Amino acid sequence: MDMIVRPRRLRKSQAVRRMVRETRMDQASLIYPMFVMDGENIEEEIGAMPGQFRYSVDRMPYELERIQKAGVTQVMLFGIPAKKDEVGSQAYAPDGIVQRALREAKRQFPDLYYITDVCMCEYTSHGHCGLLHGDYVDNDSTLGSLAKIALSHVEAGADMVAPSDMMDGRVRAIRTALDGHGYLDVPIMSYAVKYASAFYGPFRDAAGSAPSFGDRKSYQMDPHNRREGLKEAALDLQEGADILMVKPALSYLDVLSDVKRETCVPVAAYSVSGEYSMVKAAAHAGFVDEERIICEMAVSTYRAGADIYLTYFAKELAGFIQEGRIG
Ligand code: PBG
Repeated sequence: MDMIVRPRRLRKSQAVRRMVRETRMDQASLIYPMFVMDGENIEEEIGAMPGQFRYSVDRMPYELERIQKAGVTQVMLFGIPAKKDEVGSQAYAPDGIVQRALREAKRQFPDLYYITDVCMCEYTSHGHCGLLHGDYVDNDSTLGSLAKIALSHVEAGADMVAPSDMMDGRVRAIRTALDGHGYLDVPIMSYAVKYASAFYGPFRDAAGSAPSFGDRKSYQMDPHNRREGLKEAALDLQEGADILMVKPALSYLDVLSDVKRETCVPVAAYSVSGEYSMVKAAAHAGFVDEERIICEMAVSTYRAGADIYLTYFAKELAGFIQEGRIG
């Protein structure tokens, strides 16, 4: 054969494959999303997300310990309040669920890094991410509430806040509120490029946050749009976002790769609840190899440009990375 270039030479052994790998993963870039809820002695498995639980504040430390032992150092907190109202007032209550969880978590596990999801949908009786004017989710009147939520999280100890509501202008509103109270150094990770996705289905079961009417298409992005992702990313950068997130992950790797190429801040990708549940269901049925699927999804996301990866598989993945089992 007259062939001098043979790509297979660099695939011959595990050692050479590892050496030439283009994508490397590090457990320091993982964020584990977890759910805290009002009540006591609760560790309740989420029906649609086998292996994921809702914890009351007294049981949460046991999970934080497992997270830390697994080698994961970042946690994203979601709160499920005991009562909801029209305006989501529990979201910024000083003794709200996330605020109490944060104080306890920081006291017991000060070495973990705590990020909070800033949104209203888990706290409003109607399940939308903002204040309603009639049936419309009103943008500008929601901004003040989002700023209040973020500020109350930071006052309770959040190291970083992550607005996920998709109102226009919320990054600036939050930045202004934090700076006005002296929190100049607390970064904002914006869910900048967040699509109106069916992949959030299991999360809405987990957090009881499904909208009671309509959908989120008037504020979350249309999955048909790719260039608009860059518009959202650019706007959030102008408003002071420190980290940009693309969400979901697997179906939006093209968008992730664009955002990575066109911006110069760290880019996060969120492998959402539906991605987790599909893997769990398929693995349970014996249709796929769970470990290999977890690793391949993660590698694809990093390869597309993620610097940071939010995943319900963070603990497992940290283990696979540590043991060198990836790929
Ligand atoms: C809150 C929020 C959602 C998710 C993260 N923050 C739900 C939604 O927008 O409906 C989804 C996370 C997941 O599915 O894992 N707005």
